[in-house]
Amino acid sequence: MKLFLDTANLDDIAALAPTGFVDGVTTNPSLIAKSGRDMTATIAEICAMVDGPVSAEVTATDAETMLAEGRKLAAIADNVCVKVPLTPAGLSTCKALADNGTMVNVTLCFSPAQAMLAAKAGARFISPFIGRLDDLGRDGMGLIEDIVTIYANYDFPTEVLVASVRGVQHVVDAALVGADVATVPPAVIHAMYKHPMTDAGLEAFLKDWKDTGQSIL
Ligand code: G3P
Repeated sequence: MKLFLDTANLDDIAALAPTGFVDGVTTNPSLIAKSGRDMTATIAEICAMVDGPVSAEVTATDAETMLAEGRKLAAIADNVCVKVPLTPAGLSTCKALADNGTMVNVTLCFSPAQAMLAAKAGARFISPFIGRLDDLGRDGMGLIEDIVTIYANYDFPTEVLVASVRGVQHVVDAALVGADVATVPPAVIHAMYKHPMTDAGLEAFLKDWKDTGQSIL
């Protein structure tokens, strides 16, 4: 499963990009606002740091302006993936951009029916927001399972990009159900490293090693 970073924070991306497991980045208007930086410059810098797809979201709500914004965002760098909301205008923009060879990430997906339409509109990625469904007591991961099944039934090439990830178990569960990508906040990536038994085991190894008085170097 691919791991994308869900952030517009350049320092967080710079810290994790060298690990080699950052396969892409997703941003949205809220993450750009949180960064406090100019959107175009930020997307350009992220595209220079990460080789994989970098999602940059349109902010218009009508198809004509969305398309103009999408074309401008796509021109920033070859690895820009234009993000559009799952609305009629968003899907018509998706089709127009995808038909022209532009990667499109259709976002704010909350149902299998929506995901079907996004695939038929030529989306490269579909972004179901599992955390927000879970927040309402709904089954976010169940939505992922349904979409994975529907896409496999009809060989849709659209990749399932699990979004609104709240913790490590979301990442594990997404992989277990066969999602293509999880976009993960940096804090969750750091939490994926951690296990108390690893820390305790290493402490014990190093104590025993210290008792030998030896040195490898
Ligand atoms: O990529 C979408 C993600 O940023 C939304 O997360 O926590 O606002 O539901 P959240």
